Amino acid sequence: MNNLGFEELGRMILGQDPLPSPLSPALCGELRFLLRLDQEAFRRVLEEQRNPQETFLSFCLMMAGELREQYRLSGISDTVWQDTFSDIAIWSRRYRRETGKTGLAQYGWLCHHLTMELFRLGRLQFQPGGLDQPVELEGKTYPMGSPVLWVHIPGGEPLTPEGCRDSYRQAAEFFRSEHPVFACESWLLSPVLPKLLGADSNILAFQRDYTVFALHPESRQAEERIFGRVLDDPAGYPEDTSLQRAAKAWLLKGEKIPAASGLYCYK
Ligand SMILES: CC(C)(COP(=O)(O)OP(=O)(O)OC[C@H]1O[C@@H](n2cnc3c(N)ncnc32)[C@H](O)[C@@H]1OP(=O)(O)O)[C@@H](O)C(=O)NCCC(=O)NCCS
Repeated sequence: MNNLGFEELGRMILGQDPLPSPLSPALCGELRFLLRLDQEAFRRVLEEQRNPQETFLSFCLMMAGELREQYRLSGISDTVWQDTFSDIAIWSRRYRRETGKTGLAQYGWLCHHLTMELFRLGRLQFQPGGLDQPVELEGKTYPMGSPVLWVHIPGGEPLTPEGCRDSYRQAAEFFRSEHPVFACESWLLSPVLPKLLGADSNILAFQRDYTVFALHPESRQAEERIFGRVLDDPAGYPEDTSLQRAAKAWLLKGEKIPAASGLYCYK
């Protein structure tokens, strides 16, 4: 594990949160092998464990330790390593809040980090990929499959415009692309949000960089991310923040908050 012990690694990534039990080398080896080869089999082996979520957390920590060396060999800084794998702590805290237990339920999501498909550069995460549909933008056609950097937005801290600007700059440098095209599919791009947020909102500042090219009217991601869970009756949603209050009132009128996909052509 690249001479970091399991406990040291756990503390680096999870801070003072409780650590999971370490995995046997045999199970870790099997999961490592399946991670790249067959993610369905990977998930099946996890589900066969007595505690799949704790096993997955433990596996993520061990893999993060191994990848530190891989990052270094690829010329990627320890800061990017630490920031990328800080997502383990974000999601394991959420799992603890929801269940009171130690573990991780986001198998599919965190596998992107473990296979070096996704990196956190400053405030935002980036994942190289292709457009899933053709897009017309500013007189230019981007055919389906055009290379883009998918942008993901981890929670845990405000989404300041300065933080985003710095992240986009880092991404252009990291992926050696002078004018990358950023793509994002998220509730944060919902065209309804300008009706619900104040002019000084960070989310609205984030939106302004993107041109929306698709709406996802059936998505309930906004509710999940604003209220922490999706209810049949919005009357049960909490009202702790200004966005929660405005979104709840909007939903109570029978309106929806669709997610959206957008492109940002970085200049
Ligand atoms: C992205 C995020 C950091 C933006 O938060 P922010 O920087 O505070 O955003 P804003 O400045 O626009 O917030 C304006 C108001 O809305 C509230 N707000 C913002 N995001 C909120 C959320 N997810 N849930 C509840 N309230 C939220 C803020 O607390 C603030 O309320 P206040 O006026 O009562 O203080 C936040 O939404 C978050 O952590 N989301 C989770 C991650 C996520 O959704 N990622 C995208 C997945 S595709």
